Amino acid sequence: MCGIVGYIGEKNCVPILINGLKRLEYRGYDSAGLGVLTNNHSVVIKNKGKVSLLEEKVQKTNLSGKVGIGHTRWATHGVPNEINAHPHYNTSRNLYVIHNGIIENFRTLKKGLEKLGYVFETETDSEVLPHLIDSFLKKGNPLFKAVRLALTEVEGTYGIAVVYEGEPDKIIAARKGSPLVLGLGDNENFIASDVSAILAHTKQVIYIEDGELVEVYKDKFIVKTITDNEIEKEIHEISMTLDEIDKGGFSHFMLKEIMEQPETISNSIRGRILFEKGTSRLGGLTEVVDRLVNSKRIIITACGTSWHAGLVGEYMFEQFCRIPTEVEYASEFRYRNPIINHDDTILFISQSGETADTLAALREAKLKGALVLGICNVVGSSIARETAAGVYTHAGPEIGVASTKAFTSQLVVLALITLLVARRKSMSQVDGRAIAEELMAIPDKINSILRLNDQIEKIASEFHDANNFLYLGRGYNFPVALEGALKLKEISYIHAEGYPAAEMKHGPIALIDENMPVVFIAPKDSTYDKIISNIEEVKARGGRTIAIATENDNGIDSLVDYTIKVPSTIRMLMPILTVIPLQLLAYHIAVKKGLNVDQPRNLAKSVTVE
Ligand code: G6P
Repeated sequence: MCGIVGYIGEKNCVPILINGLKRLEYRGYDSAGLGVLTNNHSVVIKNKGKVSLLEEKVQKTNLSGKVGIGHTRWATHGVPNEINAHPHYNTSRNLYVIHNGIIENFRTLKKGLEKLGYVFETETDSEVLPHLIDSFLKKGNPLFKAVRLALTEVEGTYGIAVVYEGEPDKIIAARKGSPLVLGLGDNENFIASDVSAILAHTKQVIYIEDGELVEVYKDKFIVKTITDNEIEKEIHEISMTLDEIDKGGFSHFMLKEIMEQPETISNSIRGRILFEKGTSRLGGLTEVVDRLVNSKRIIITACGTSWHAGLVGEYMFEQFCRIPTEVEYASEFRYRNPIINHDDTILFISQSGETADTLAALREAKLKGALVLGICNVVGSSIARETAAGVYTHAGPEIGVASTKAFTSQLVVLALITLLVARRKSMSQVDGRAIAEELMAIPDKINSILRLNDQIEKIASEFHDANNFLYLGRGYNFPVALEGALKLKEISYIHAEGYPAAEMKHGPIALIDENMPVVFIAPKDSTYDKIISNIEEVKARGGRTIAIATENDNGIDSLVDYTIKVPSTIRMLMPILTVIPLQLLAYHIAVKKGLNVDQPRNLAKSVTVE
């Protein structure tokens, strides 16, 4: 998704902006650009494709300057090309704007501006911004006021940064619905859509909220509301380090993140298990725990992989907390005027904490008076800040677009919440301890699965030329089937579907032939015999089969073409183990196909537009 970085200070901003854009690459983008104020003029350089291409282009120009803005664009309106890339500018080419988000009323604004004589070059919605701001500058307003007044006419979402030759001592930035952070340095300041873009320079940040604008100078800043009231802001210290967002010797972020899971899960659990009492301690929920325990219903709302984690959460909450639980896509929830009662708890799961649909669903639920809780990975993200309470997953920065370690940490947090609530209800201390013990053993068990990496790579060699894949699982492992299929399609572009195994007979079985690989998630549990029957049905139709099975299950080897064995654990935690081989399988298939694993085509890490 689009990324913003801006610099004002004493240094040459060009390398700072380029490196900042490289840090934002993981979000997914299709073009990039810079706008730099130099001594007596300004320069814009844009390019379709990677930031490295933009860098080559910039290097040929000897461009330098002390104020500048940079952008990675992920196309929404207008194809990805150089002209549609940001920054966009006014007709005099002395005012530059970068924009994340979508301007919903851009057609109306554009018509009005065209009547005033403004000529548009691009197919984007964003281009209305420089012209609109220009129209307010022409009425004699200073830049800050011109931006503020322009934004009062804008409907939709934005995170923007603006520079203007006429007032070269400042950057104006503003936010409504797209994340924006101000980084504070020594005689220099930064703007970014994501702290990773500026972390190399500062750890002191201020989160700009919706409806706020900031006037950033090299040595000071002023934050105001869109209604022109100045506001005091709190400075936050970022604890994340640069090392944490580097590849650490792995060929891809995704592989690093898969391999990190024993550690990230330990981090999610650390300090949160009260073993003697057979329960958990979640500081973020202390204030709301009574309301949560007494909820008549829990609705889990999320998108993508986080939605799959929610499905596992549903099984956990209903089995152990005995609270009716529903899971809904945030995009559906927000638009269907859901029935929400005061004794409902609505749980929002989001790695980034910035997903537009999840954030909008959260605001809708809040409005209707439910208890709104978050499970987020990015500390200080919008969803984390706007929920009444919540639990961080502590998985560390996830850079690979396909979510891996964030998913398993979400499952761990859901298990910890289950323990907390169930123990306040009917779960015994002995049962609570048994779950706690199994949770604590998960990191070691994942280590043993990761040792199967070479075996999984070999299986990937057999299947990387497949055109379709089917993933089947039951109960707790049905969401794992969905997640395994999602991982494969995201990064290998192989069509893959996840199904509850029993549903196979109601459609997918028609697809089975010798060209259709079927992955069964088949641990030894109460539905094992049923899934074995499903395996037989696939074999009878010539399908190629891979089973994710439990370590002591020798019987399954002769039934399937390939088995990947994982240690056993209790049913509720099994998805944390069974998903790991599926992450590795998808990874190796994508690598064998020579694809860009960390930045798959058309996908974005953080989907901040609808
Ligand atoms: C995008 C990402 C997915 C992610 C989904 C939800 O589609 O590519 O990996 O699962 O958004 O993101 P969130 O940050 O809310 O978990």
